[in-house]
Amino acid sequence: MNQQEMKQAVADAALAHIKPRLEDDTVLGIGTGSTANLFIDALAPLASSINATVASSEASAQRLKSHGIPVFDLNTLDRVDFYIDGADETNEALQLIKGGGAALTREKIVAAVAKEFVCIADESKRVKTLGGFPLPVEVIPMARSHVARQLVKLGGDPVYREGVTTDNGNIILDVFNFSIPQPLDIEDKINAITGVVTNGLFAHRPADVLLLGTPDGVETILA
Ligand code: A5P
Repeated sequence: MNQQEMKQAVADAALAHIKPRLEDDTVLGIGTGSTANLFIDALAPLASSINATVASSEASAQRLKSHGIPVFDLNTLDRVDFYIDGADETNEALQLIKGGGAALTREKIVAAVAKEFVCIADESKRVKTLGGFPLPVEVIPMARSHVARQLVKLGGDPVYREGVTTDNGNIILDVFNFSIPQPLDIEDKINAITGVVTNGLFAHRPADVLLLGTPDGVETILA
């Protein structure tokens, strides 16, 4: 399987994972990115039987709606049963880096609410130590330079993601050259910088299940 086939395989595996547990009142959290898009498309044939979804981005909300799948504001829902989303990196503990698509804050919110976070990724995303992928940080625009200076003090090289405004109206700093052997500590330290909305480390809320696409098929890895 090539990378695209692995992404399709994990999207299909995520549907197979949740389908037997879909109830009349199930609420699905839907992530953002190319792998999540394949999951949304795989979900389309079930559109009429899906009770509710909440999306982690405007782009995913539009894609869901284009298939006739109902999308709700999170504030109108009392829970999220499953959250299905991709990742930019995962370590063995299923701690993740996310936000390559700039949707990290809404992704983190939906993941925080979800009872079960199902991560879908191809094997290129699996690493021993997080940080090979530049860590995205969502920042209030006026705090950009201040936050960048603080990120340098933590040892990283922040780069402003030109031309990108998040769905929340903020900017993204991507932190390069920043190996993260202690994700819990770094997640806290970056979130403590005034002006940071959140960072793309999912260490306090890792995935519960990783469906990992490999050339030989999909591996199911539990946290
Ligand atoms: C979106 O902000 C990200 O967190 C995505 O989940 C991540 O970038 C994975 O995207 P792909 O599925 O396109 O690799």
